[in-house]
Amino acid sequence: MKQRPRRNRKTEFLRSLVRETSLTANDLVWPVFVREGEGVRQPITSLPDCYRLSTDELLHDVEKLLPLGLKAVALFPQIPDKQKDSLAKESLNESGLIPNTVRALKRQFPELVVITDVALDPYSSEGHDGLVHEGQVLNDETVAVLAQQALVQARAGADFVAPSDMMDGRVGAIRLFLDEAGFQNVGILAYSAKYASAFYDPFRDALDSAPKNGDKKTYQMDPMNAREALREARLDIEEGADILMVKPALAYLDIIQKVRENSDIPVAAYNVSGEYAMIKAAVKNGWLNERKTVLEILGSIRRAGADMIFSYHTPDVLKWLKD
Ligand code: PBG
Repeated sequence: MKQRPRRNRKTEFLRSLVRETSLTANDLVWPVFVREGEGVRQPITSLPDCYRLSTDELLHDVEKLLPLGLKAVALFPQIPDKQKDSLAKESLNESGLIPNTVRALKRQFPELVVITDVALDPYSSEGHDGLVHEGQVLNDETVAVLAQQALVQARAGADFVAPSDMMDGRVGAIRLFLDEAGFQNVGILAYSAKYASAFYDPFRDALDSAPKNGDKKTYQMDPMNAREALREARLDIEEGADILMVKPALAYLDIIQKVRENSDIPVAAYNVSGEYAMIKAAVKNGWLNERKTVLEILGSIRRAGADMIFSYHTPDVLKWLKD
């Protein structure tokens, strides 16, 4: 036999030399849920070991994770019901939860990359990412609000605003609005191929943000479509996106690969709440080894072509990578 592939697998040192894909702290973004209060760490039933954190607790956690290599956080707010309305007005509050959290983070950790979510669902009594009129999610009217929301976040000090709403034309509108206000250096991380997925339910529990009526299928993509992801990615690049996102990740590795091959800007993938919850449930039952499973899954997302991964496993992974 001339060909013996096993020769390259003989020892761990050798396997390290021929390994094609890496996973390091530089590839991870930690998505975190924030809420009002002080000293609050509120567990989330469907997301074991994730918490809704008050600002002081978040600062505490970031301080512990920076020495392990944490580079970036993505913030998601839990807004009390009494602050929600049909116009999602709280999303434009300059001294609201997210702007305050961004300011606190950037004051204490100026080097941390802070990413804020642009969408109305956490603030809307309708639970939709856009404004609702007679049962329809309005596009252009929503985009006007999203641009203002992005500006509020940029003013607070966000490094990247990340529109996750899937309205048409929002990246271009946000870019123009930020530039006109002098925020040319604030980036846009566009959720370009975001699917209408069953894997978001634990996230909606965490924020209490499930749609009151209907579903999100008139704006989020049909899980059966792949070519359409390339169209969305191309439009977002044309409109000025700096980083593209594919979401979810695990059931969409083919999409990550296609988007990676068809674009020349960084591609992020979101290892979403349902993907995390499945692993945690199996681990709790003793059916899977958490560390091995998580590293394999995140490795596969990297292998598919993601430059960075948003994952709730980030705090654990940073510790494991350090050992
Ligand atoms: C909404 C938003 C969602 C997630 C991120 N931003 C949920 C949704 O579209 O309903 C889901 C993230 C996750 O499941 O981890 N703007």
